[in-house]
Formats: sequence, C-alpha cells, structure tokens
Amino acid sequence: ERGEYRHYMLKEIHEQPQALADTLEGRISGGRVLTQILGVDADALLAQTEAVHIVACGTSYHAGLVARYWIESLAGIPCTAEIASEYRYRNPVVRPGTLFVSISQSGETADTLAALKLAKARGYLAQLAVCNVPESSIVRESSLVLMTRAGPEIGVASTKAFTTQLAALGLFALAFAHAKGLDEARYLDGVRQLEQLPGLVAETLKLDAEIEALAADFADKQHALFLGRGTHWPVAMEGALKLKEISYIHAEAYAAGELKHGPLALVDADMPVIAVAPNDALIDKLLSNLEEVRTRGGELYVFADHDVGSRVDDSRTLVMPACGEIAAPVVSTIPLQLLSYHVAVLRGTDVDQPRNLAKSVTVE
Ligand code: M6R
Repeated sequence: ERGEYRHYMLKEIHEQPQALADTLEGRISGGRVLTQILGVDADALLAQTEAVHIVACGTSYHAGLVARYWIESLAGIPCTAEIASEYRYRNPVVRPGTLFVSISQSGETADTLAALKLAKARGYLAQLAVCNVPESSIVRESSLVLMTRAGPEIGVASTKAFTTQLAALGLFALAFAHAKGLDEARYLDGVRQLEQLPGLVAETLKLDAEIEALAADFADKQHALFLGRGTHWPVAMEGALKLKEISYIHAEAYAAGELKHGPLALVDADMPVIAVAPNDALIDKLLSNLEEVRTRGGELYVFADHDVGSRVDDSRTLVMPACGEIAAPVVSTIPLQLLSYHVAVLRGTDVDQPRNLAKSVTVE
C-alpha cells in the first residue's frame, strides 16, 4: 500500500534506507564481507576468476556500469558491462576463467534472460544473478545468486531496486577484490562505507524539500543534460533515464570529459545542466568542465559531496553527505530520483505508470 505517500515511486524512494539495510543484513561480519554470500564454493570460484562480463538492461545496466569501475579498480580484473539486447546478438568472445553476471530487478526481462541462456553455452566459469525476485526465471537459470532485498517495486521507474543492486554489487566487488589481494585498509574502508549506506541515504533524503523547490525550474524545460565522471557517469545516465521516463523531458547523460566533443554546442540558458560532484580523484577536472558550462550561460545544478560544496560557486548547489568511493554513487543517486519525481508531479504525468512503458519487459 502507498500509505501516506502520493505515489509508489515516492514511497519506494523513501524505503531505500531499509531496503539497503535488508540487502546488507547478515552479509557483513566483523567489518568483512562474508564470502558465503555467493554460496559455499565461492572462495575457490573467485580465486579462479580472471574476467567478468556483466549484462543487463535499463537501470540494471547502469548498476552494472558502476560495478565495472569498482571491479577493475578494486580487484584489478578486467570487467565489461553491456546491454543484454546487444550482447545476445553479437557473438561475444569468452576467454577461460570468465564469470558471467546478470543484473535484473524482475528476473524476467526477455533480453537479459536470453543473454543468460546464451552465456550458459559459452563456457563461463559460472553465471551469477543479482536479482530482486527469488523465484524468477533468471534466478532459476543461474548457478550463483546474490539477491537484492528491495521488496516489491511497484513504480515502473526503478529506484530502490537500483540502489540495492549497487549495495549487492559493492559486496561482490569487495569480496572479489579481497580474494585478489586488495590492500587491507582500502578493503576495510569499502566495507565500512557499505555499512554506513542506510544512514547516509536517510541523511540525503532530508534534501527532499530543497529538491522539490528546484524542480519548478525544470517543469517548462524541453531538454536537460546530466554530467558525471567515473562511477558518476553511470549515475548521471540513471538520472537522465529517470527524468525522461517519468517527466517526458528529453535528457541525456555525458561523461563530463566529452563536453567539448559535442554536447557543449547545446548549452544555453534553456538547457539545465545537472552535475553530480563527488569528492574523488576527478573532482578538479569536473569542476573545470562545469566552469565551461557556466561561461556558456548554461543553467547549472550541482549535487556536491559535502567536502566539495564550498568549491562550487553557485546558488543552485545542493550539498550531500561526505562519502567514499563505494557509498558515493548510491548517495548521489538519491537527489536525482527526487528531482525527476518532483518534476514529473509538477508536469502532471502518471508517475507510477509512465506512458508506453511496462514494469517488466518480457518480450523483445
Ligand atoms: O527487471 P529488470 O531490472 O531486468 O528491468 C530492466 C529495465 O527494464 C528497467 O530497469 C527499466 O529501465 C526501468 N523502468 C528503469 O526505471
């Protein structure tokens, strides 16, 4: 039931601290990820894994893109993330020692399921499903399972499924990286960040009223550009998908470093530019990209990490809690969900059931 909430989407956005806590529950002990989370033989399997192929659609694909950055940077193992409808028709090359990972909220997405069936004939070490529905086809077809515990997601626009996918993939990336010899301090810090996620997300949800106030600026816009770098590029992609899905505003996401290679030509006073600015190694580069937008007269909205906020010279900057590399993409997603929600409400769209879309895409 929606209860006090006007839409399921809003309820599901606010359920995220609990959904994240549920997804982490019993999977971390003494500051370490329990390797049994993938099943009994996972230790041996992770030790053997020399490459990872992630396949998914839509929002779940964006979670896969974030995980790709984590797996390569923490575990030092090559990882690709790909859209299922492309993977299944392109004859992927699978080297020995490769792990297949599918990500799906519903576990019934036709392209993801077909990709998994193809993968089963391609000599992967194993097929891991990161999924929210225990009895789904994708879970049944996979040899390893890591469930997200988001609970039922009714809104067509995925919210808590995405952030719990990131939490599950964070657990996986850290367990995997540990097996591959990740520096102990970085490992323990990553696990600590996962443990802090429910609290950090609850803190970020308090920005709701401020974001609702910003939404008025977007209600009459035709286009919006989302920018990020590193793991925040897929977060920007997710922000753009949410906005187009429920508010029907055309939105695109770019890696901020690509601005000069094309999209900067679009920037003018009618083009809101939304940037996610974590406190990471690329922040100086991002801030200089934002300066380019500002000098072209672009309307800039920045969702900045606490330690970056004071460096962004703009009234439309919202400050989020300070976060490390694992927590940041989860936390930065929250304001983008709230922004698209409030813009959609102002535009009077059917937030929970956007036109032309189905919750579960069971046909190609
Ligand atoms: O159930 P799945 O995670 O496999 O669904 C994949 C996409 O259809 C889904 O994420 C879609 O993009 C959402 N409506 C996005 O909000």
